[in-house]
Amino acid sequence: MAGTRTQADEARETAVEAALARLGLDAKARLLAGQDMWTLPALPEIGLRSLVMSDGPVGVRGVRWTADDPSVALPSPTALAATWDPELARRAGVLLAQEARRKGVHVLLAPTVNLHRSPLGGRHFEAYSEDPYLTGLIGAGYVSGVQSGGVGTTVKHFVANDAETERFTVNNLVGERALRELYLAPFETIVENARPWGVMTAYNSVNGTTMTEHRYLVNQILRGEWGFDGCNVSDWTAARSTLGAVEGGLDVAMPGPGTVYGEALAAAVRAGEVEEAAVDTAVRNVLRLAARVGALEGAEPAVTEPPAQVDGEALAREIAHRSFVLVRNQGALPLKPGTVALIGAAARDARILGGGSATVFPARTVSPLDGLTAALPEGSLRYAVGADPATELAVAGQGFVLRAICRDRAGQVIGTASAPNGQIQWMGADLPDGVTHDTLHTIELTGTYTPRETGRHTFGIKGLGAFTLTVAGTTHYDDVQGADGDDPFISFFGAPEPRAEAGLTAGQPVDVSLTHVVSFPEDAPVKAVGFALAHQEPQRDPDELIAEAVEAARAADTAVVVVATTDRVESEGFDRADLNLPGRQDDLVRAVAAANPNTVVVVNSGSPVELPWREDVAAVLLSWFPGQEGGAALADVLTGVREPGGRLPTTWGALADAPVTQVVPTDGELPYSEGVFIGYRAWDRAGRTPSYAFGHGLGYTEWAYQSLELDGRTARIRVRNTGDRAGREVVQLYLAPGERDAERPARALAGFAQVTAEPGETAEAVVEIPRRAFEIWDEKTNSWSFVKGSYEIQAGRSIADRRLTGTINV
Ligand code: BGC
Repeated sequence: MAGTRTQADEARETAVEAALARLGLDAKARLLAGQDMWTLPALPEIGLRSLVMSDGPVGVRGVRWTADDPSVALPSPTALAATWDPELARRAGVLLAQEARRKGVHVLLAPTVNLHRSPLGGRHFEAYSEDPYLTGLIGAGYVSGVQSGGVGTTVKHFVANDAETERFTVNNLVGERALRELYLAPFETIVENARPWGVMTAYNSVNGTTMTEHRYLVNQILRGEWGFDGCNVSDWTAARSTLGAVEGGLDVAMPGPGTVYGEALAAAVRAGEVEEAAVDTAVRNVLRLAARVGALEGAEPAVTEPPAQVDGEALAREIAHRSFVLVRNQGALPLKPGTVALIGAAARDARILGGGSATVFPARTVSPLDGLTAALPEGSLRYAVGADPATELAVAGQGFVLRAICRDRAGQVIGTASAPNGQIQWMGADLPDGVTHDTLHTIELTGTYTPRETGRHTFGIKGLGAFTLTVAGTTHYDDVQGADGDDPFISFFGAPEPRAEAGLTAGQPVDVSLTHVVSFPEDAPVKAVGFALAHQEPQRDPDELIAEAVEAARAADTAVVVVATTDRVESEGFDRADLNLPGRQDDLVRAVAAANPNTVVVVNSGSPVELPWREDVAAVLLSWFPGQEGGAALADVLTGVREPGGRLPTTWGALADAPVTQVVPTDGELPYSEGVFIGYRAWDRAGRTPSYAFGHGLGYTEWAYQSLELDGRTARIRVRNTGDRAGREVVQLYLAPGERDAERPARALAGFAQVTAEPGETAEAVVEIPRRAFEIWDEKTNSWSFVKGSYEIQAGRSIADRRLTGTINV
């Protein structure tokens, strides 16, 4: 199913078999286990280089968790999906392959194609959509792009990893029909259309079996039915049993060196518990991956000439403006000439990406304040904080100059490293020159902080273990911080603890020092140190901040308020408790809107938030986590240089109305009792109206839907640009079964296409409706069933704005 083998594939297979034949059991077992956090061992005897993997998905972090090793940061995956443009996703992939090659990375740990089952999912920002068809096509575009650059992907997390609560152990109970029609569907589309070289199996269980041991889903469906011939890599620390993993079709257990493969696997073969042939199967998959990415001598890589160089900053900016969704516009946008009050903490300190393993460190970020300052005439912009969404301390950033000093037990300096963002994340072999796990005793983050505000500053610590914190010569903390969760990555996601307060003066630097006594527990799967110096600026009276913003808004022609979530709201590692904007941001918007009828709100979040004031403001623009060039793209869109091109890839509505809100397991189990009814399928069934419907997005021009013609499964839709500027329209097709079937969604996305047209011009969108759109998974026969009958084709601007209909009989 996943394409036929080419001559080059055959040649690679021959090289793989030859290499395999030269390996002994121990080497084979070793190859299947990470040698450290991000790599597999090299096997020089067969000309195999060490395979290097890296997160993903908005950039390529590389093997080091530091701002010293920057990567382009593209907009969040939700933003990429909001472009509804698989070709743009492909171009994003090409750029990421370029980044990967630059950093010596062979395999990108991306894309994330789990679904937006519930808006409470903490990693929502990192996945594409609530719709499997849109997810599959964006994912396929992304994978094709990355792999066209000769770099592998691991489509993740296979499967049903749609929330974070108890993510390592949760047993998701998912009916076969929902699995096939929703959760497996994007993986299937990607395997079929883009032939991924890898998948990553998830932490969770599905119907009683953990995904790293799921023979049925991995061997039978993914490999057997779909013909996936790539490498199956475990999510980090997900593999738990040597036998279970081998039998379940897991090829590589990451990270290392302590894994269920390696020595344990060789021993299991020697004890007669595992057939060596099963090890060979896994090794073949790893060698095939290595051959494809050019890490196996004697095998021609899948790509011999990488695509032409891409300008990362330009592409990041393009994807951002193409992703912004204008959900409401009462004539306020584009901005008319005049003065602007720019309001919001995130307008100055840009929130460009979501938290967790998806974090990358760009070389630069353009905040909305930077972007608008550059775009607007001098003197026409005034800034006010208005409200600070951060309810707690954040990792030290702006104003800090820090480096890390490593000492041994005797207090001797054994190495140093730069630590530009006050955060240490050293995993596995990633240690400064001269430092080893055996000699490293303490790490001191030391340097200066120059405040931009006068007042009482709070300093704190993120991480576990023994710390000493000194600010301006005074030691404020010298104790041990304990754990408040069992996630092994808690130091990445946990809350920083406030530990010191100091009265400081703007512009006057003070010395800061945070020393951590490291410890490497014997049973930890990876030797890792992770901690950070955290900080919070003086907390001004929230009412006073709002009053200041109101005054700025009143004096300006337009008020632009940027509201945002924080990485304590949207992150890997935990789910969301509600969909509220943190802090006093709702109060801020209401107060500003009352003072200036021309208030534009920019919503800077990776996933849905409630916007209770949305009818009281002149415009609402969703900017997602817009990546490093977000502020420049925002200025382009606000000033009208560019049209906001996005359409919602997921329904936005209030939590109280949201159909699926259960993300917390009971006794370890999470039943997906809603079956196939998630997202718009569920809103439709419940007869509820969300704040903004799936597919909605206004752009800057108007479109008339003129005609819909059907010829077999091909639909031709003619639309006319009736506005006064050129534009791009995403023509959407929904398929509604003629006969009501309570078990089937009333309608589902069955195709879409982009057209562009000048004012007054007509354009034609041609959409081929896939056969699958007419099929359901029949749980009785355990097969796809083509449902004959009459269907209504509904063409429109969103699922709620259907302009033309036609009938198709199949
Ligand atoms: C995440 C993966 C990620 C891996 C490596 C895991 O915790 O679930 O998405 O690729 O870590 O960082």
